[in-house]
Amino acid sequence: GRGVAMVTAVAARLAAHRRLLEETLAPFRLSHEQLATVQTQMREAMAKGLRREASSLRMLPTYVRATPDGSERGDFLALDLGGTNFRVLLVRVAEGGVQIVNQVYSIPECVAQGSGQQLFDHIVDCIVDFQQKQGLRGQSLPLGFTFSFPCKQLGLDQGILLNWTKGFNASGCEGQDVVYLLREAIKRRQAVELNVVAIVNDTVGTMMSCGYEDPRCEMGLIVGTGTNACYMEELQNVAGVAGDSGHMCINMEWGAFGDDGSLGMLSTCFDVRVDQASINPGKQRFEKMISGMYLGEIVRHILLHLTSLGVLFQGQQTQRLQTRDIFKTKFLSEIESFANLVAATVRELAPRCVVTFLQSEDGSGKGAALVTAVACRLAQMACV
Ligand code: GLC
Repeated sequence: GRGVAMVTAVAARLAAHRRLLEETLAPFRLSHEQLATVQTQMREAMAKGLRREASSLRMLPTYVRATPDGSERGDFLALDLGGTNFRVLLVRVAEGGVQIVNQVYSIPECVAQGSGQQLFDHIVDCIVDFQQKQGLRGQSLPLGFTFSFPCKQLGLDQGILLNWTKGFNASGCEGQDVVYLLREAIKRRQAVELNVVAIVNDTVGTMMSCGYEDPRCEMGLIVGTGTNACYMEELQNVAGVAGDSGHMCINMEWGAFGDDGSLGMLSTCFDVRVDQASINPGKQRFEKMISGMYLGEIVRHILLHLTSLGVLFQGQQTQRLQTRDIFKTKFLSEIESFANLVAATVRELAPRCVVTFLQSEDGSGKGAALVTAVACRLAQMACV
């Protein structure tokens, strides 16, 4: 009698736990209707952004008008700022392919969130170090700067930082031309000569580096520390840029999608907690739902909640689980590896399009060099 009663009690508790688990996770499984609604909202926000009407999608013109044609050649320097690390690269684009030498430098949080002057001085110090190590002192190679933040571009080598995203918050940079800030830091150091040709968003770099392998590639997509996408748009659809023919790459800045409240229906209490604890509450809402800087935290909040319900760890909260960023997003990627699902969902939402995904190899580094190379090729053509 007692044995049977205990087994029944355990079974009942397990069933109750399963139900609580299902209830907690259900909002993360989107129905076809929910996905289709997001799709419609995004399409409308894109159209508004392109017309320069108020929209959470900024649809920023990048002044990149062509993808590589394979005839690009030369040595280039590239900088990559905007992910977890800062990198300086030497990219050799030659007949037989692209060769890259790169060095990773860390950006301490106190520098990323300190003064702009400090940040750019640090960047120039890293470049000087790299040039010394690679025997490049005295050469002024054309430089492409992958700067993965929203910028209003007025040309290929001019980008006004609209606002910082991800973990960055250096003062005195928003509203300023980033290339100007870099050139000023170079002047302060007096030690280097740099020839900054282009400022490039990482999505654009990604598109360009895949475009070099396959010219049919005309979109770039990043799901890294942050998330964003770019694509080649017909110039006639882009308000505010002169010219009616040809194409231009548009940086969507889709991480900010939903900042007007439109994603509210999908936002869970865990998303709200992650947003509130970030350095920019209310901003980059879409990014905070899906990208690497935040996903681990979402999981941690779910684990905390399940523990408080008694579903996990016998209801015992631990100090460890209460520690911010203790659960790394890479664990999640190991459990659910983000490729078949993506392809299947795209097929479901765009049944008439054939979409192929290419994995980019060092999109930020190689891509910045290729944007620079294409610009140099076009400039040469213009001179002849
Ligand atoms: C953030 C930035 C965006 C970048 C993306 C991926 O969303 O605002 O410019 O492309 O992160 O790094």
